[in-house]
Amino acid sequence: MRKIILDCDPGHDDALAMLLAHSHPDTDVVLLTTVAGNQTVEKTTRNALNVASLAGMQAPVAKGMGRSLTGRQSTAPDIHGESGLDGPVFPPCDLNAIDKHAVDAIIDALTASDGDMTMVCTGPLTNMAAALMKEPGIVRQIREIVLMGGATYFGNKTPAAEFNIFVDPEAARIVFDSGLPLTMIGLELTHQAVASPDIVEEIRAMDNPVARIVVELLEFFGHSYREVFGFEAPPIHDACAVAYVIDPHVMTTRSCRVDIETKGEFTAGMTVVDLYGVTGRRPNANVALELDKRRFWELMLNAFRSYGG
Ligand code: RIB
Ligand code: CA
Repeated sequence: MRKIILDCDPGHDDALAMLLAHSHPDTDVVLLTTVAGNQTVEKTTRNALNVASLAGMQAPVAKGMGRSLTGRQSTAPDIHGESGLDGPVFPPCDLNAIDKHAVDAIIDALTASDGDMTMVCTGPLTNMAAALMKEPGIVRQIREIVLMGGATYFGNKTPAAEFNIFVDPEAARIVFDSGLPLTMIGLELTHQAVASPDIVEEIRAMDNPVARIVVELLEFFGHSYREVFGFEAPPIHDACAVAYVIDPHVMTTRSCRVDIETKGEFTAGMTVVDLYGVTGRRPNANVALELDKRRFWELMLNAFRSYGG
């Protein structure tokens, strides 16, 4: 059993990551924390509560940082819509966020744990970095950090920077330099995890309340990716991070040095991945490379199917 704190910015692919993490018998989501990213933190928190309610998740939801460590905010309505989770209408939700900031909730949950907690970060790393700065001792309670973010060769928010890292490069640098075991699941990996029309039809055929919402999420997300990036199908980035926690063999990884550019006029937010060790600098991340697509979609489809009882 892997105990998980899921720090996220729902976000269509964050929602699918939540549904996978909640449904799999080998993962236990003990805390959900939200951060500004795809939308404002107010909206990502509302979205997390809606998905948690739909799925029947019991984990507390704590609202987190609304701006980057340097006070910036950058949302993605072109991809996720004005609500941050456009497409479906969720069932009525009477859940509320707990009355504790996500950074304190992360610190308290880690402090109370027996050191076996996995941090899964699928949004900007602001909450994670703030928790490490506020309480450095939590490093002893974290088994590993698995994050969706960055890329080896390109970006999606700028030509050089992937969105989660772009939103808060300073936070990313703190996390990558923390010395913690860290797996970086970047765009080269997640672009292998596209929800093709066949996959969507297989989910539609499941005909359970969660699968119906998933189809509507994928239809909206797919339209965004066609319009903005010319993709034929949407990559469900964040679910890859949870799939890796469930089954590390679902992808190959390589131990690399990854540095975060925070100042470049054209490259701020870039993950500078030393794939061939040319710098001689000590590796600080396992960088994900190849996805076992069959295994990945087996996990995802079983997850959505499981909500049918
Ligand atoms: O670049 C993709 C990442 O940015 C995903 O986590 C998506 O949800 C957005 O947060
Ligand atoms: Ca996300």
